[in-house]
Amino acid sequence: MKHLLKMLDLSTEEIIDILNLADQLKYELKHNIPHPLLKGKTLGMIFQKASTRTRVSFETGMYQLGGYPLFLSSNDLQIGRGEPVQDTARVLSRYLDGIMIRTFEQEEVEALAEFGNIPIINGLTDFCHPCQVLADLMTIREQKGSFDGLKMCFIGDGNNMANSLIVGGLKVGMTVSAACPADYKPDKQVMDFAQKYDCFTLTESPAEAAKDADVLITDVWASMGQEDEAEKRKIAFKGYQINDEIMACAKPDAMVLHCLPAHREEEITTKVFEDHAAEIFEEAENRLHAQKAVMVKLMAK
Ligand code: CP
Ligand code: NVA
Repeated sequence: MKHLLKMLDLSTEEIIDILNLADQLKYELKHNIPHPLLKGKTLGMIFQKASTRTRVSFETGMYQLGGYPLFLSSNDLQIGRGEPVQDTARVLSRYLDGIMIRTFEQEEVEALAEFGNIPIINGLTDFCHPCQVLADLMTIREQKGSFDGLKMCFIGDGNNMANSLIVGGLKVGMTVSAACPADYKPDKQVMDFAQKYDCFTLTESPAEAAKDADVLITDVWASMGQEDEAEKRKIAFKGYQINDEIMACAKPDAMVLHCLPAHREEEITTKVFEDHAAEIFEEAENRLHAQKAVMVKLMAK
C-alpha cells in the first residue's frame, strides 16, 4: 500500500491490518505507552474545504507519533491561485514525508499521487472519504466484536460517505444495504463494484434498507460545495431520515453512526442522535486512531 486514495484500492487484508494497528495504537495511547513511530517525519495537510475532525485528528495524531504536521490552507498555497497540482506534488515531495489532502475532485488526489513520490492520503473528496470509513469500520468491530453476519445500512445521499461505506462494508464481509432517492444514487464505479456482491442491495425505501440492520448510518443531505442546492435537497431527501420508525425496522441492539457534522431533524432526529451519542462520538475519536495507523503503514519506513 503506497497511498490511501479510495477504499476501492485497498484489499480486505490491508483494511484489517490498518484496523488491527489502530486498535493497538488506541490501547497504547489509553495506557500512556509512547509510540513515536514517525519520529522526525513531516506531514503536509492541504485543505480546500472546512474541517474540524480531520484537521485536529491528523495534527494531533502526527504529534503523538513523534512527527510534525503542517496545516496548509489552499487560501495561502499557490494551488489556490492556479499552480497545477502536478507541480505542487513534485515540489512538496522534496520537503515532506507525506501529504493529506481534502479537496473537491478525486482526480486531483490521484494526480498528487501520480506526480509526487511520497504517500498521499485522501482526507475527503466529492467521491469518497476513506479515512472516515476506516474509523467507522473500527467502531463497528469494536462494538460488535467482529463483522461476521452483520448488516450495515446507509440511508441518504449517494455521496462520498455512501461510496466509501458500501465498498468498505462489502470488503470486510458485511451485508450492505443503501437507501437513496433515484436521482442521488452512489457513484457508478461504486455500483459496478457492489453489484458483484449478492449481499448488496440498493433501494429507494429507507424502511426496506433498515430491515434487521445491525448498523445504521447516515450523512448530511447537502455536502460541502453543495450549499446552493440545500433547499432543493431538503425536498428530495424528505423521509430519508434515521428516526424511531426506522430504528424499529432494525435489530433492537442496532448501533447508529454519523461522520458529523450532523443536521438534526434532517437526516437524523435529535432523539436518535442523542440515544446513540456514545457510538457517534466514539466513532469521531476513532478517526485519530485509524488515521495514525494509516500514517504508520504509509510513512514508517
Ligand atoms: N467527519 C469529518 O470528516 O469531519 P470534518 O469535516 O470536521 O473533518
Ligand atoms: N458528505 C459530507 C461529509 C462531511 C464529513 C461532505 O462532504 O460535506
